[in-house]
Amino acid sequence: MNSRRPCIGGNWKMNTRLEDALLLARSVAEGVDTIDDCVDVVVYPPFPWITHVADVLSGSRVALGAQDVSSHGDGAYTGQISAGMLLDSGCTKVLVGHSERRHGLGESNSLLNEKALAALESGLEVMLCIGETLEERDSGRTNEVVATQVAECLSGVEAGSMARMTIAYEPVWAIGTGRTAEPGDAQEVHAGIRTQLADLYDAPIAAGMRILYGGSMKPGNAGELLEQADIDGGLIGGASLDSDEFLSIINATMTQGSAD
Ligand code: PGA
Repeated sequence: MNSRRPCIGGNWKMNTRLEDALLLARSVAEGVDTIDDCVDVVVYPPFPWITHVADVLSGSRVALGAQDVSSHGDGAYTGQISAGMLLDSGCTKVLVGHSERRHGLGESNSLLNEKALAALESGLEVMLCIGETLEERDSGRTNEVVATQVAECLSGVEAGSMARMTIAYEPVWAIGTGRTAEPGDAQEVHAGIRTQLADLYDAPIAAGMRILYGGSMKPGNAGELLEQADIDGGLIGGASLDSDEFLSIINATMTQGSAD
């Protein structure tokens, strides 16, 4: 860990019924209230629960995000949800480019770039998810794939908007599989992303950018990942559905020293 304020996100994906979602949100909010205020926490519930969860989180230190956003502002786009709608529902944050949308639904870097621009334009904070598949890793293309995702998804994103951008590096083969990247391997990718951000923008923007790791982060492995110099938190799937596990990962950010 380092001088950047850590961030832990809980991506609930298409899990929970309403009652579970409210209980989970309440437990997380209560738990976070007992922890020192030195970590940002955000949950990304399914769309229909957002306004309900917003009520539960109101007045707490847990921020609310959505799992996706339309690239369009409004109009004839059946089933899509605009950035403005998310803001009106109480969200301040949104995930863009989760691998389950890239690889499950075929979302391209150029579409994700449009989504990121639409979200930033509206005032939302964006968590841009990137990461290589197992095949890409095995063929030695991790850095190239990740660099292309960063460059194409950030195309046209002004330096002034980068304070509302967070990156989540999530190797696709580690998501929901129980396989985690070796901390040193993840650190290497994170450091490469930071170097690329310095080239695309400037050194202060790169140094201030939070780059989270995601992919089977659990209480048992969070510490060794979070202690890496360029890993600034985690985007948690499975373990975010259990408030004890999620809170334990949040607590793990607290035990990491200042490395830079
Ligand atoms: P996981 O999911 O923690 O269940 O691997 C991470 C994610 O999809 O963001």
